[in-house]
Amino acid sequence: METSWEKLQKKPVRLIAAACNDMGIGKDGKLPWDLPTEFQYFVNTVKTVSRPGRMNFMVWGRLCWDSHPESLFPLPNILHVVLSKTLDTVPDHAHFLCRDFDSAIRLAAEPPLADLIETIWIVGGVQVYKDALNHPWCDLLYLTDVMADFDCDVFFPEFDKNLFQLQEGFPRVPSEIQEENGIKFKYQVFKRDTADTV
Ligand SMILES: NC(=O)c1ccc[n+]([C@@H]2O[C@H](COP(=O)([O-])OP(=O)(O)OC[C@H]3O[C@@H](n4cnc5c(N)ncnc54)[C@H](OP(=O)(O)O)[C@@H]3O)[C@@H](O)[C@H]2O)c1
Repeated sequence: METSWEKLQKKPVRLIAAACNDMGIGKDGKLPWDLPTEFQYFVNTVKTVSRPGRMNFMVWGRLCWDSHPESLFPLPNILHVVLSKTLDTVPDHAHFLCRDFDSAIRLAAEPPLADLIETIWIVGGVQVYKDALNHPWCDLLYLTDVMADFDCDVFFPEFDKNLFQLQEGFPRVPSEIQEENGIKFKYQVFKRDTADTV
């Protein structure tokens, strides 16, 4: 029988994404831009833990996993879970396979992982972001604003900017506009207004 939600060890659920002017996030299964500094910011953010011995948990859609992993390994302090209803076995280099979003959250919040896991990072794609934005444990959205137009075929889901409010001077997040390969971008963090965090 499933453990009730009240008995799970609550973990922060945090999204991280980069979106261009029309909220596009991907094209043909890949990122539409080449921004190594932004990618390094992503890596630094998701691997941060507050003390040695703790780990973070990263939730991937199957297509994102297929398009990203080789450049990501090895990543310290991360356990990777891939969501899929069609795969039968855990994909290479991943740690877990789950059939739906809630199963992944439970996995991180129940024994034996619960004492180990600090933050659940949601790294897309679209359906996984939608599920996370609706999850009661979701407190922060790290959303880099790529200040340019790109041809995209996947888009970050709409979210309520009254519920998720843009933060000023968020800790460890550079506030000045960045530029790389002729593309301007800025790091942003939106915090759920009911969230008690940081
Ligand atoms: N700019 C950014 O920050 C960013 C971030 C992430 C992704 N992207 C881009 O977005 C694109 C990929 O995203 P996508 O939305 O097309 O695909 P995706 O979410 O990575 O993969 C879709 C597949 O993942 C599985 N899946 C997703 N949600 C699930 C759920 N709740 N439960 C069970 N299975 C689930 C399903 O696999 P099965 O079909 O096997 O059931 C589904 O067909 C790429 O272009 C990527 O580069 C960009």
